[in-house]
Amino acid sequence: AQDKRESLYIVSNYAAKFFADKMWNSEEGKTIGLSYFKERGFRDDIIKKFELGYSPDDWSALLDSAVKEGYQQEFLEQVGLVIKNDQGRVYDRFRGRVMFPIHNFTGRVIGFGGRTLKTDKSSPKYVNSPESDIYHKSNVLYGLFQAKKAIRDFDNCYLVEGYADVLSVQQAGVENVVASSGTSLTTEQIKLIGRFTKSVTILYDGDTAGIKASLRGLDMILEEGLDVKVVLFPDGHDPDSYIQKFGAAAFKSHINSHQKDFIFYKTEILLQDANNDPIKKAGVIRDVVESIAKIPDAIKASIFVRECSSILQMEERILIAELNKIRLSNS
Ligand code: CTP
Ligand code: MN
Ligand code: MN
Ligand code: MN
Ligand code: MN
Repeated sequence: AQDKRESLYIVSNYAAKFFADKMWNSEEGKTIGLSYFKERGFRDDIIKKFELGYSPDDWSALLDSAVKEGYQQEFLEQVGLVIKNDQGRVYDRFRGRVMFPIHNFTGRVIGFGGRTLKTDKSSPKYVNSPESDIYHKSNVLYGLFQAKKAIRDFDNCYLVEGYADVLSVQQAGVENVVASSGTSLTTEQIKLIGRFTKSVTILYDGDTAGIKASLRGLDMILEEGLDVKVVLFPDGHDPDSYIQKFGAAAFKSHINSHQKDFIFYKTEILLQDANNDPIKKAGVIRDVVESIAKIPDAIKASIFVRECSSILQMEERILIAELNKIRLSNS
């Protein structure tokens, strides 16, 4: 079984090299793939650091080349680089897309994300590798291999939604960044971050989906005993679009001035909807206390109860009573 996994790593590595070679060295790759990344503002050093590539717009470019080099079709199928349909026809999964290899945290290629170049909605924006014996997407954070040293050094991890966010944040000189990419954040992913730091800052997209995901994510991070802050981006921006529009310096200063401890962030978001309605406000208080109840450390929790009491102008003993009630019903 170990041998088989090794074979899957090897074909995945071959594919990453193939896609990168096509992007840098073929006419199609240069004019379509590389120029796409350049137009998005990515520098050569970042494109190389993440081993980005291009999959030719062809039904079997990868398959043909790999087989010719002596790789077994069987292994290409098992990592989903190649698909065999019901009629037995075999073809490349990724065609005419820019390619983001996904590495495990030791740096081996385990899967791919492929972005369409089309601007219409005729095909999905991203196609991703399926689950395989070497790729379990709920256990993987995009960019962790490139970020792990900085995460340790800064004792903090920025968490973004997507591939392009990781590239732009890294390009802005902030190297401690990973993406949950597409899957909603999992406990396994948080535990993985927890091996390098106990402090996470969520930088999700400034849209309804991103805000919703940030509220869910912060509860999960608290439950794992990590500290969590959140930065909201304006006008539907994500970290990538913000950096490409306003620049690295503006991005860093936005993060520094807008990062909020989870409790301020959550309270602010929820109070916006409550509109001074006292019943709704009671709901907000309960919701915020529910997040506090997830914190395993009792001393930390009591500090947040005090914060909460002052933000929401609610007596501490009432919050404590509520907290204890929630803890009891959760246990
Ligand atoms: N995603 C995916 N499949 C989709 C849409 C999104 O796997 N059809 C994942 C990708 O990892 C993507 C992340 O979810 O990077 C965040 O999605 P979204 O914000 O929609 O995309 P962006 O990363 O902003 O993509 P881009 O900037 O390239 O348009
Ligand atoms: Mn496995
Ligand atoms: Mn999004
Ligand atoms: Mn986005
Ligand atoms: Mn984006």
